Amino acid sequence: MKQDIVLISGAPGGIGVALCRKFIEQGYTVAALDRDEAAMQRLEKTMQDEFGSSVIPVLCDLTEGQKVREAVDRIEADHGPISRLVNNAAFITETGNLKRMTPEKWDAEISVNLNGVYNLTAPVLDHMCQRQSGVVTTVSSVNGLAAFGHPAYSASKAGLISHMQCVAIEYGPRGIRANCVLPGTVATDAWKARIEKEPNVFELLKKWYPLGMVATPEDVAEAVWFLSSPAARVITGTSLRVDAGLMAGNRLMAQELSQEDFS
Ligand SMILES: NC(=O)c1ccc[n+]([C@@H]2O[C@H](COP(=O)([O-])OP(=O)(O)OC[C@H]3O[C@@H](n4cnc5c(N)ncnc54)[C@H](O)[C@@H]3O)[C@@H](O)[C@H]2O)c1
Repeated sequence: MKQDIVLISGAPGGIGVALCRKFIEQGYTVAALDRDEAAMQRLEKTMQDEFGSSVIPVLCDLTEGQKVREAVDRIEADHGPISRLVNNAAFITETGNLKRMTPEKWDAEISVNLNGVYNLTAPVLDHMCQRQSGVVTTVSSVNGLAAFGHPAYSASKAGLISHMQCVAIEYGPRGIRANCVLPGTVATDAWKARIEKEPNVFELLKKWYPLGMVATPEDVAEAVWFLSSPAARVITGTSLRVDAGLMAGNRLMAQELSQEDFS
């Protein structure tokens, strides 16, 4: 029997595993896309151990557009309709500022984080159009709204907000919704290089967040699930911040401006 499928890119990553758990709990079959074979095998085992059901492994590099299209067509033919897409995979280099940027590093980040999302979303939309229904939810970042370093990553994440808005207006009349989730700091392996430079980095960052904490992968998965679910049926073309209040304003600056103590 053909099942209702959510296709999740970057599924074995920190946030990806939480997304897999959330959607499996909600009764979905997960098609898990990633380019890392060993990580994919670990994910398959984890989901088998936890839920007694495995994911559909889709080993694929998002930068290879034709292969991505073939992979999407194969999921649809062999397993059933992709009713939800979660664009979650991304790649960040260690290059945090423009001075150290090179054309190669710029290309590497843009080609995965922005072009890769286009490569995956386009063929999925073709199939969703045939059914006149579907939801695309893309994990962008607060880096898409304001500058926090990592310029190529940030440019790609800003591009994703625009891309989902374009999908929303063009495909809305075909019954398809598209939104972004914008996390602030989330404690995952994506921080490995920065943790090597400063093991205490998450503690240090907490002061910038009004809620005094950084998000967990589960916090992000809850927001993605909400936007993907029928509860969000009239929400499209929007971006939901999951950032412990970061983008609400600057508390430290507000204290200096007002010359008052907010504590
Ligand atoms: N961790 C954070 O602080 C944070 C903050 C804001 C936004 N985000 C976003 O959340 C999402 C998930 O981040 P994470 O922290 O779980 O990252 P992660 O590094 O743990 O996982 C990313 C996954 O994407 C896969 N991937 C990378 N390039 C790929 C490619 N070309 N083709 C296929 N797969 C590829 C990796 O193999 C990995 O499994 C990303 O979009 C990231 O930008 C993360």
